[in-house]
Order: sequence, then C-alpha cells, then structure tokens
Amino acid sequence: MTTFTSDVFDVETIELAGTTESIVRGGRHLFGRLPAALAGVRRIGVLGWGPQGRAQALNLRDSLAGTGIGVTVGLRPGSASVADAEANGFRRADGTLGDWLAVAADSDLVLLLVSDAAQAARYREIFAALRPGSTLGVSHGFLAGHLANEGADWPAGISVIAVCPKGMGDSVRRLYRQGAEIDGAGINASFAVVADHDGHATDRALGWSVGLGSPYTFRTTLDDERRSDLVGERAILLGGVHGIVESLHHRYRLAGATPAEAYDRACATITGPVARTISRSGLAAVRADLPAADRAVFDRAYAATYRPCRELVAELYDEVADGTELRSVVLAGRRLAHTPLRPVGGSAMWTGPRAATGRTDPFTAGVFVAAMVAQIDVLAEHGHAWSEIVNESVIEAVDSLLPYMRARDVSYMVDNCSMTARLGARKWGPRFAAALDQLAFPAADGIEPLDPAPLAAFADHPVHAVLARLAPLRPPVDISV
Ligand SMILES: NC(=O)c1ccc[n+]([C@@H]2O[C@H](COP(=O)([O-])OP(=O)(O)OC[C@H]3O[C@@H](n4cnc5c(N)ncnc54)[C@H](OP(=O)(O)O)[C@@H]3O)[C@@H](O)[C@H]2O)c1
Repeated sequence: MTTFTSDVFDVETIELAGTTESIVRGGRHLFGRLPAALAGVRRIGVLGWGPQGRAQALNLRDSLAGTGIGVTVGLRPGSASVADAEANGFRRADGTLGDWLAVAADSDLVLLLVSDAAQAARYREIFAALRPGSTLGVSHGFLAGHLANEGADWPAGISVIAVCPKGMGDSVRRLYRQGAEIDGAGINASFAVVADHDGHATDRALGWSVGLGSPYTFRTTLDDERRSDLVGERAILLGGVHGIVESLHHRYRLAGATPAEAYDRACATITGPVARTISRSGLAAVRADLPAADRAVFDRAYAATYRPCRELVAELYDEVADGTELRSVVLAGRRLAHTPLRPVGGSAMWTGPRAATGRTDPFTAGVFVAAMVAQIDVLAEHGHAWSEIVNESVIEAVDSLLPYMRARDVSYMVDNCSMTARLGARKWGPRFAAALDQLAFPAADGIEPLDPAPLAAFADHPVHAVLARLAPLRPPVDISV
C-alpha cells in the first residue's frame, strides 16, 4: 500500500530499512502542474477555520493563484472564526466565505477540516450536502474510525481522499511562507485514497499535498494514519514530551537545582540541542556527540526509561486501535460545550524562571531518546511504513513542534494542535510522568544493573539508516517561530 503511480508528478522509489516506498517530492516549481492534478476541480471548499483549515485555505489559495481554481471557506452559523477569515481575505461579499453546508454543496473538492468531534457528530449532514461526483478530503483518519465504530459508510458516489500534514497547522502556514524564499520548505504529509470514482483520486490528493507545500508526500491508509497520528500526539509529540519535561523538572528541583537550572536541564535540553542534533544528524548522534562520562549517564537513563515507555505506548496503541481513544474524544466533544479546556502551562516549570544555556543534560537526553525509540518500536511492531513512523515520531517533533515549545511554551505547542490532540495530550501526558517517576527514575537511581538489551538494540536500530536516507529530503530551513 506504500507504492503508487501518478500521471502528473514524478514518483520516486526509496528503500527504507529493507522496505520500498513511493514518494513525491514537493516544491513551488510544481505549482504549474496543479491544474492537471486537480482536473475537474473549479472550486475547493475548506470547511472549518481551526489551525488546519486556516493554514490549508491560505496555502492553497496562494498556490492556485491565477489558475482559475478558487478556494472558499465554509463556517457554521454563528462561527467565531468569521472575523479572522475575513481579515485574511475570505469574504462573504465576494463569495469566498459562506455557510459550511452551502460551501460543501457548491464545491468540487471539499476539505473537511472542522474538529474531529464535530465530524463525528455531524457527518450525516455533511455527506448529505455533497454534490454527486465531487471529492471529499479529510486530514485525519479519525472520521474513518468513527464510521467503523458506528457501522456507517462513506457517502456513495463521492471520491474520498486524505492528505494529512505531519505538523501543526501553524507550521503548515509558517513554513509555506518561508518556502517563498527556500523552495520546498513545508511540512511533510501522508495521503490516502479511500474511494476513487473517476480514476483520478491519487493525483487529486497529490495536488492538494503539493499545493500545501509538503516537501515530500508518502502513502498510507486511513486506518494506519489514524492509529499512528493519535498515538504520536498522545506520546512523544505532545503528551509524552510534556509529561517527560514536567517529571524531569521535578526531579532536578528535588535534587537542588534552581528553577531556572531545572528548566534548562529538563526542557531546554530537549527543545534546543537534542532536537537540533536529531534534526540535522539523527538519533544516534545525540549519544555519540556526548563526552564519554556523559555517555554513561545517557545510557543509564536510556536503559531505565525504554521499557516503561514502551509498555505505556503499547497500551496507548491498543486503546487507539480498538476505538477506545476515539470514543473518548467523542465523549469529550460533548462535555466541551459546557466545560472548555483550560491551559496546560500552569505548573511551576512554566510559571517560574527559565534558562536555555544550550548545554545538553545527558540524563534528560537519554530519557527523551528512549521514549522516542519506544514509540518507533511500537509503530514498527504494528507494521506502519517507515515514512509514517519517523514523521510521527521524529520529524514532526524536532522540525515542527519542539521549536514552538522552546520559543513559546507547552501551552502554545499543545493548544495550537487539533482538539483531538489537545484532549489526548492532557489525558496521556500525566501517564508518562508517572511512568518515569514510579518506574524509570527509581531504576536509574537504583544499584541494580540495568537491562542492556534496549541500548544494544539502539546501537543497531534500523531507524538510524532510515533517518539518514530521508535527511536529503529535509528542506535546508529551520522553522521560524
Ligand atoms: N491541528 C493540527 O495541527 C492538525 C494536524 C493534522 C491534521 N489535523 C486534522 O485537521 C482537522 C481539523 O483540525 P483543526 O486542528 O484545524 O481543527 P479543530 O481546532 O479541531 O477544530 C476547529 C474547527 O472546527 C469547527 N467546529 C467545531 N465544532 C463544530 C461543530 N459542532 N460544527 C461545525 N464546526 C465545528 C470550528 O468552528 P468555529 O471556527 O466556528 O469555532 C473550527 O473552525 C482534524 O481532522 C484534525 O485531526 C489537524
């Protein structure tokens, strides 16, 4: 399922750890091919103006300027987002902003970018509004999972595709704008084809992805996308890293560090030198670049952390795969109407002084890398493609999300992601903190020798070769946050 062909774009084949994947590289020089890729589409309707709706509507409008393919935003009655959409040039007066169901009915390609809970609650109305022969696009496998839970189906006579950017909406827009100067800057995306009624769905999805500015696009299924995406954001991308930095901060404070030092060692280590090293040189370089004495500290932290995190991610994966996590989001969606989410950055770590010296705390580095590899291993065990594994576990973290946590704070990082992600990070983050406090730290501090197997596996891990193979696809630009 990871290989495909295209009539419009050049498809490359890459070998990743003994597997073969097809990919399409993006870039502004390909925007001239978008009309061919989107043949038959005169109007794209973007439903929703959350982080993704906003970024995708703006990027597509810019990429399609002058092609005759228009982008219209559709919002629910009474939407609080009307003012921002108008301020960004989507106006009721010229018909580029309208009621979401009317826009769905008038569009050839409908991008369903309202919250996942809203998709679950209102999909019948949306499906009923679609024009026969049109194409429905989603940016997540959530709705597919909900339909499966309900025993429901996609609408008949409609092509269904997905393009799922592997980064938060804000970064999809920000990197696209940076890409005006550095061709190819953007956020990688996966795509899937669920129903293809005219034989053109793959190129339509690729055109959507290239138009968003994705440096490279790889193929997945909606089932794989949903499982890997929900796991990733609940684990190392958002919830897990939040739990990790909170528990490390607490640990360093108890050991006598000042609040600023504890922040530097627990959080700034990860968001600064560790993220930068992984982004440029891969995971193995984090350990290899440490002085020898620090490597022993890294090793102890890694060996103590790997198993508790692996067990937790395995539990999370099971709950995602069997629909439990999805039902939890749907239930939360009902509560949100009268109990809005509160910010996540209220702890001493975020309200106290912060320092960022640029030094790498080896204990923190060992914990973080072990948690990241634990997630990689669970996704690999469940048969996900390597592009999906490393985008959901590594690339999105170091190139899209952690720079926001460094420049702003954890609230900004978490709460500019989807409602699904915000809920999941709140639910699972504390589990990671507990796994470290109760299992990993006591093991690291104990006198017992630690299991050498996880570190031995790290030394020979296939992910190192995968990251090295994908490194040339990374645009030579860091996100400016
Ligand atoms: N955020 C990300 O970084 C990200 C990344 C990859 C994929 N995705 C996927 O992209 C899709 C959109 O996510 P998002 O994060 O941009 O949006 P979101 O924050 O989850 O949802 C925001 C949008 O949903 C609308 N909405 C909420 N409840 C509604 C209801 N009952 N009826 C109609 N509209 C309703 C909101 O309308 P108002 O404007 O009127 O409030 C708003 O426009 C989701 O499938 C998500 O999983 C998101």
